[in-house]
Amino acid sequence: MLLITTKKELIEQVEICKSEGKSIGLVPTMGALHAGHASLVRRSVADNDITVVSVFVNPTQFNNKEDLAKYPRNLERDAELLSSLGVDYVFAPTPEDMYDAEEMSKPFEFDFGGLDKVMEGKMRPGHFNGVVQVVSKLFYLVRPDRAYFGEKDFQQLAIIRYMVYRSALKDTFGCLEIIGCPIVREASGLAMSSRNERLSDEEKRTAVNISRVLFESQAWAKDNNATVAAVEKRVVKEVNAISGLEVEYYEIVDADTLLPTQSFVNAVGCITVYCGPVRLIDNIRY
Ligand code: PAF
Repeated sequence: MLLITTKKELIEQVEICKSEGKSIGLVPTMGALHAGHASLVRRSVADNDITVVSVFVNPTQFNNKEDLAKYPRNLERDAELLSSLGVDYVFAPTPEDMYDAEEMSKPFEFDFGGLDKVMEGKMRPGHFNGVVQVVSKLFYLVRPDRAYFGEKDFQQLAIIRYMVYRSALKDTFGCLEIIGCPIVREASGLAMSSRNERLSDEEKRTAVNISRVLFESQAWAKDNNATVAAVEKRVVKEVNAISGLEVEYYEIVDADTLLPTQSFVNAVGCITVYCGPVRLIDNIRY
């Protein structure tokens, strides 16, 4: 496995792989890797000749400076895991290498077709601009055949699919295939997240209630022939009833348009909850 820190070296290595006719899988990450990331990497290693994993805490997607400063970082441990999974290249640039001064200071502009107006987009202004900025840059640098993203960040995945398949940029990505991989959960049900590293043992036990309430709501919706609104209300009430948890939003939306829906067909319930100071997200299909 080769650890690359500059765009120049990455472009050179990609050129060699392309000239040898090798397929390339890309797994973009912000590091602090866990079993969820490992599942994306395993899939890429199985599907492609070459796997590139980027490890880059992207400053342009953080609208909260404290969140950026506290984001867990451990490149040495990440590199060990990636090497054991059979990754070929780890790309870990500095922000200065990734972006020029103008890119760092001027918000990236992108038409999301409305997908950024709801949920995370509403709560974290500018967040998805930063995500699209870094992900599109990685796509131009790595020119992957396939790129892998977790379904935990459901809205992010929908936006990346929109960028690659439907937006004005779509012709620039060739035959790139976006592959969404299922949420990986701890045995307790808690969705794996790099942010879980910031939870104390007690907060972790509290956070388990998020997935518990979501799973129970699936059965409750069915048994009671409940409406979407009733399920939303119940989930918010039950999570907020647990000391230490505070729901920011819970919305059951159409899985493609991300717009509010009255039906459970193709519906996904997306939740954001504060567990102490840590902001956690999860989602469930109905
Ligand atoms: O999901 C993430 O970790 C990040 O948003 C991503 C896709 C790596 C872009 O920085």
